[in-house]
Amino acid sequence: MASSSGPAGTPFDAPPFPGRALSQPQRAADAPARPEHPDREPPYLDLARLEDRARRLLPADVADYYAGGAESETTLAEAPAAWRAWRLRPRVLRGIATAQLGTSLLGSEVATPIGVAPWAYQAMAHPEGERATAAGAAAAGALMTVSTSASCALEEVAAVAPASPSWFQLYRLHSPAHTDDLARRAGDAGYRALVLTADLPVLGRRRRDLVHDFALPAGLRLANHPADGSAGPPAWSPPWTFDDIGRFADLSGLPVVVKGVLRGDDAAQCVAAGADAVWVSTHGGRQVDPAVSSASALPEVVEAVGGPDGVEVYADGGIRHGSDVLVALALGATAVFLGRPTVWGLATGAADGVASVLTGLSEELAHTMVLCGVPDVGSVPRDLVVPVR
Ligand SMILES: Cc1cc2nc3c(=O)[nH]c(=O)nc-3n(C[C@H](O)[C@H](O)[C@H](O)COP(=O)(O)O)c2cc1C
Repeated sequence: MASSSGPAGTPFDAPPFPGRALSQPQRAADAPARPEHPDREPPYLDLARLEDRARRLLPADVADYYAGGAESETTLAEAPAAWRAWRLRPRVLRGIATAQLGTSLLGSEVATPIGVAPWAYQAMAHPEGERATAAGAAAAGALMTVSTSASCALEEVAAVAPASPSWFQLYRLHSPAHTDDLARRAGDAGYRALVLTADLPVLGRRRRDLVHDFALPAGLRLANHPADGSAGPPAWSPPWTFDDIGRFADLSGLPVVVKGVLRGDDAAQCVAAGADAVWVSTHGGRQVDPAVSSASALPEVVEAVGGPDGVEVYADGGIRHGSDVLVALALGATAVFLGRPTVWGLATGAADGVASVLTGLSEELAHTMVLCGVPDVGSVPRDLVVPVR
């Protein structure tokens, strides 16, 4: 391991008891032989390694499109650390040897509270695109959210695993008539909810894309848009208001989830306007920068609209470990969603890659729950976590 120095010049990996430290030659002689296998996959989910493999497979501009955030990328950088700003308070002697991850999201049964967030242009990551992600999510028993900006038509994705619940994410498109039509089609195609993305009144300024002058590869189909381009890019006119929540519920006949909420007052207005659930998100750090992290906004949103008598609250952004999921559940989330980790899974292993990310993180969650004396995802106590001081 490379040796690094702490603030006071102490090596971080120094043994805690200097008097018992072994000299280097003693260490080498006593330690069992441990051959290095730098190319062998570790026997656990190593997302940093997976990200690295995905980056090496993708063209630089595509890898940066998936990885990047807005402006100085402060929101992006802070997201994983914000979940790590909480510590678990394990409970002992609860007689628990296994943990149940199955739960219900807006009435649909899923095997895990970890779902796939909507992300665009999946055919850039793998030719099978959203069809492979849908197959991977179904194999893991996880819910998938299909983006408006998908490279496969929403009906085609829904047909991959019709028995496995999925939601359709709606952007405001240039053509209001086409936007309305997508909401109707989502209802007709069997999606179980419509996710309105509220945090994109205009596109965030993503510097990596500006540097690359990023453009979609030739031949990539925005399959949910008319071929003549009349739908236009997301988010030009007219801007949505709280009144659109009820309108889209009526058009689609589906429960409506509002995605991109970071404030308790907004969450309360969404619910008053008819939202069935609220999704706390910074859009993966791709919109407002610097914005509060999902981890820090979640308690305020749960306080405003969650709890036993409230609506379901979901969260995403920087979730990379099963323990991050457990923190989110303790803070009141019903489920969490993964964006980039499923990009890496798709790019490196198609449907199997997506499934292994979802099952790997689910296994980590179950393991941590058992260690913490929590039997199921519906009964994670709020006092399981405390902020790091
Ligand atoms: C490449 C990429 C494309 C995205 N496309 C969409 C989209 O089409 N619609 C949407 O609502 N959110 C979109 N998002 C945001 C994700 O749904 C999600 O909020 C975010 O990725 C979660 O953070 P994470 O990537 O750290 O897990 C996108 C995110 C990424 C990284």
